[in-house]
Amino acid sequence: MTNGLLLLHGFPLDSRSWDPQVASLSPLLTVVAPDMPGFGKAAGLMTSVDVAADAAADALRAAGVDRAIVCGLSMGGYVALAMWRRHRALIAGIVLANTKSTPDDEPGKERRRQLATRLRAEGNGFLAASPPPLLSEAAPAGLWDGVKADIARQAPAAIAAAAEAMADRPDSTPDLATIDVPVMLITSEHDTLIPAAETWAMAKHLPGERVAVIKDAGHLSNLEQPQAFNQLLREHLVRGRFADVGPAQD
Ligand code: MLT
Repeated sequence: MTNGLLLLHGFPLDSRSWDPQVASLSPLLTVVAPDMPGFGKAAGLMTSVDVAADAAADALRAAGVDRAIVCGLSMGGYVALAMWRRHRALIAGIVLANTKSTPDDEPGKERRRQLATRLRAEGNGFLAASPPPLLSEAAPAGLWDGVKADIARQAPAAIAAAAEAMADRPDSTPDLATIDVPVMLITSEHDTLIPAAETWAMAKHLPGERVAVIKDAGHLSNLEQPQAFNQLLREHLVRGRFADVGPAQD
């Protein structure tokens, strides 16, 4: 039995956004951080959250991992919940960071479809130049530069497909009550994209599970406060009896 940690990235980034977590935790266990289909070096397109969940399950199997703590941030959280529906035998614990279980409302779906149309017509320059509020207002310019470069690297067709996949994602709220592995919910003080209220709403369906609020961070809490995020991951690995990892080394 090989245990592992699966890291599912947010939109419109790729697996490099997990670099601080891979560096910190890969000495302790197998860490699998796949690019979602079409992003980074991955082939295909993310035509649905199910397609991304199946690709992530394949990545775990290819790495020889039988059971994983699945950590998804934002769009990665939508995919983590799809994995729970489709591949739960692989899952020993879940971390849902800066994400939500509810689907988009109609205006939200329409905004995603318009974004997809614009990406296909114009490319991704406008999005890289003016991204959504992925970081807090206090985030250093250098961190923003890295995030913008990460967006610029992604194929416009991949970003467009993922936007449409998110628009079409189902309501995962009924699935929360079926989760019988340890869950940790993470939000952050300054997340305006998926505010903390969404996390507390999920927590009502997961009584007894831990909710952590990361201070001084916006939406991409793992990038803005990597040490705090890594420490929470370590704690969840210990709780799931995955690793006796002790305090953070970074
Ligand atoms: C993300 O960071 O993955 C996105 O903000 C998620 C979303 O747009 O719903």
